[in-house]
Amino acid sequence: MKLKPFRLERYFAQYEFTAPYLLCCSDCESLSVGDLLRLEQNAHEELSSLWLGYTESLGSPELRAQIASLYPNISPGQILVHAGAEEAIFNFMNVVLSAGDQIIVHSPYYQSLGEVARSIGADVTEWPGNPDRGWELDLQFLVENVTDRTRVVVVNVPHNPTGYLPDPRFMQELSALSDKRGFLVFSDEVYRGLEYDPADRLPSFAEINERGISLGVMSKTYGLAGLRIGWVATRNKELFDALAAFKDYTTICNSAPSEYLATLALRHRNPIVERNLGIIRGNLGLLASFFARHRDLFEWHEPKAGPIAFPRYLGASVEQFCAELVRQSGVLLLPGTLYGQGYDCFRIGFGRNNLAECLPRLEQFLENGR
Ligand SMILES: Cc1ncc(COP(=O)(O)O)c(C=O)c1O
Repeated sequence: MKLKPFRLERYFAQYEFTAPYLLCCSDCESLSVGDLLRLEQNAHEELSSLWLGYTESLGSPELRAQIASLYPNISPGQILVHAGAEEAIFNFMNVVLSAGDQIIVHSPYYQSLGEVARSIGADVTEWPGNPDRGWELDLQFLVENVTDRTRVVVVNVPHNPTGYLPDPRFMQELSALSDKRGFLVFSDEVYRGLEYDPADRLPSFAEINERGISLGVMSKTYGLAGLRIGWVATRNKELFDALAAFKDYTTICNSAPSEYLATLALRHRNPIVERNLGIIRGNLGLLASFFARHRDLFEWHEPKAGPIAFPRYLGASVEQFCAELVRQSGVLLLPGTLYGQGYDCFRIGFGRNNLAECLPRLEQFLENGR
């Protein structure tokens, strides 16, 4: 298997710890270990006395129970914990795909959702969201592009980078098509829980259909990327067992302190998520007025969920714009071309507290350029 460089990660490797004003991060404001330990009286002592032997390969029973409680119709035995969402994507693609299979991927997409499949020799068909309709996915495209070789359809809802969120009918129709044509649905739900209106929250695909695999992680909704704890939920026992067996070749089991801290955080998820949504809502207000002041340069479409959006740049080259911006002002945006050729958009992140600091610098850069 030969994997191409992960464009987005290479871009972050260049700037993440040098550019002072990160304005394109895909997660929410993080917390410290101390912040988490203060959530419960005995937590400090419990963490200190934690045994650092190998942990249970499927994930600790307490953590799996907490994760399962995020899904009304999933039991702890249907949760498999991984090292981040990234490991789960890698393992899933390797378990289910063979050379010559077809996989259809909601696009633009987080690169590993297509790249791992490509490296296995699968044919990747992109299923593009429509930018003129809020990045909506058209199920008719799927009807027309599914073949007898289609093994997997990937959806990412809420979506990175556009914040697109379909309605529940979309999920039901996708499920019916999966029943009819027999493909698996890999549903990347790492932003689930960050819907601005809770009524917009979709049921997870794993709950809707046994052919569904739902992906979750501590990194985005909870802002705890450094824990490197992700998971899949599925009612498909055969697939679950195959994924569990594959994990013996990647990480075997998870970090014990991370599992402890993730369990603790999930027990207190409501205040953590409320805080993150509070940051997002405040930042969205600032962004709405910023983009209203710069209609000549950008096309803004407010997402329905999550801490990122994908506004359009109306100037000549979005790559050049982002490169000049970071060089002159230290503000990092992410050019849409990192998601694939032809995206004249950029990713902007608003899940962190630094937005109020970054935005005036971006505005100053625009003023200087006039
Ligand atoms: C849509 C999506 N899926 C999966 C991942 C991987 O998550 P993690 O880095 O926490 O493993 C990311 C990270 O940016 C993502 O945006």
